[in-house]
Amino acid sequence: MVRSVVLSALAAALSATAVYAAIPTCGPNNPCPEATPCCSQYGQCGVGAYCLGGCDPLFSHSLTSCVAAPVCKSSDYKLTSLSDITPNTQYLGDSSKASWVSSGTPVVYQDNSLLLTMAPNTVGTLLSSTHYVWYGKISATMTTSQGAGVVTAFIMMSDVKDEIDFEFVGVDLEHVQSNYYFQGITDYGNGQNLAVSNTVQNVHTYTLDWQPDYITWSIDGRVMRTKNRNETWNATAQQYHFPQTPARIMLSLWPAGLPTNGQGTIDWAGGLVDWNSPYMQNGYFYAMVKDVNVQCYDPPTGYNSSGSKSYVYNSRAGTNDTIAVTNQNTILASFQATGEDPSKNPNAQSSSAAASSPSAGASKSSSAAASASTSAAPETVPGVSGAGNRGEDTSGVQSGGSGSAATGSSSSGSGSSGSGFSQGTTPSTSDAQRMRFVQGGSVAVVVVALGAVLFL
Ligand SMILES: *[C@@H]1O[C@H](CO)[C@@H](O)[C@H](O)[C@H]1NC(C)=O
Ligand SMILES: *[C@@H]1O[C@H](CO)[C@@H](O)[C@H](O)[C@H]1NC(C)=O
Ligand SMILES: *[C@@H]1O[C@H](CO)[C@@H](O)[C@H](O)[C@H]1NC(C)=O
Ligand SMILES: *[C@@H]1O[C@H](CO)[C@@H](O)[C@H](O)[C@H]1NC(C)=O
Repeated sequence: MVRSVVLSALAAALSATAVYAAIPTCGPNNPCPEATPCCSQYGQCGVGAYCLGGCDPLFSHSLTSCVAAPVCKSSDYKLTSLSDITPNTQYLGDSSKASWVSSGTPVVYQDNSLLLTMAPNTVGTLLSSTHYVWYGKISATMTTSQGAGVVTAFIMMSDVKDEIDFEFVGVDLEHVQSNYYFQGITDYGNGQNLAVSNTVQNVHTYTLDWQPDYITWSIDGRVMRTKNRNETWNATAQQYHFPQTPARIMLSLWPAGLPTNGQGTIDWAGGLVDWNSPYMQNGYFYAMVKDVNVQCYDPPTGYNSSGSKSYVYNSRAGTNDTIAVTNQNTILASFQATGEDPSKNPNAQSSSAAASSPSAGASKSSSAAASASTSAAPETVPGVSGAGNRGEDTSGVQSGGSGSAATGSSSSGSGSSGSGFSQGTTPSTSDAQRMRFVQGGSVAVVVVALGAVLFL
């Protein structure tokens, strides 16, 4: 049975709601306020990194709150060092400086691959590409982790939660779960198990061929599943529920089997994580990624083009025809900046995250700059507890999970919910708890659990 990560995220989020209750949440009919305009993938409002990858244009304050997204770049990424990876507490949107943003703890292994690690009291590791892909062929050559409650994932996730997945549950090494979502809407008919030989012992190449008209999931060059767009027509909504918006590549290792997650999620993941597991080494669970290959396709015919550098959304419909390719800026001057005020830079003294980053040449920004650091400092990095708290503790990276998905019925505007998790190097339990974000909105009809991306 296939379940989305999202659900677990959601569950975790709800359980942690109290902790982050003060952070404004966002979701359907509940956009972010002007002061903290950007709606993160976890359904919470903030500035800085909240406005970068994962910022949801549908629920942010305005369509310009989220920063434009770097366009697709074909490349063969050999993951043999950390040089092309920037922690999410430091990344400000310059994709020419780093191809990947991390949360958690990626570790170089034998100079020829990267380990996504998950130590006790952490929520694992997430790598997200800085460049988006708007159709392309994406391959990851990797091995997974194993054990009850341990999930490895290789997915594509767009800012409006279109998603294409390979998810590996650590109690079934002979299958990978393929799945896809349109705007995070959960449809349990979308998932399908694919057979594979021992995902821990054997290095396999998993490939998503994402075309405007179809998606194929392949393993070692063999097509295992095809989904045509024309099979995804939703008569109620009168649209194709097919992934169609620019998406980031995400690789992650995360603990679905945490007591704080919902029972359904724990069951899906094969039980609770055993933090004294024989499958851990050097004190952590690990999945290995050797290579990620990206071959970009040309944007679909008839797309709106006024440039070649970045993708933006022109409407809250969040569909393929609302994407434009522009030359708009993708970089923020500081962690206090937003898509609406990208040059804002109160000179970094105070806000932690900003201080640790090489803030790009901050031109002086607008007026309000100085006031930002006073009183209620806005959240600046999704998954890391509030502005100023964790500073450059790069360990505080949140890791992500994949799934999003939402459940949902239609409108009722309860918010979305999402959760993110952060991990610290030596986190105390309470730390770990506090990092779990949540958003809680009204639980009720979970409308869109948006975000679950979580990687928790
Ligand atoms: C659906 O799309 C596929 C691939 O684009 C095509 O081969 C097939 O004929 C289409 N089916 C229908 C019913 O239109
Ligand atoms: C069709 O879309 C609506 C939302 O627009 C959703 O609630 C419903 O579950 C979808 N139906 C199917 C069969 O996917
Ligand atoms: C968007 O998708 C529709 C099918 O739903 C297709 O007919 C149209 O060409 C696409 N437009 C772009 C710009 O991708
Ligand atoms: C094309 O994109 C530009 C830039 O976002 C936008 O201003 C314009 O309204 C778009 N045109 C159409 C027809 O959507």
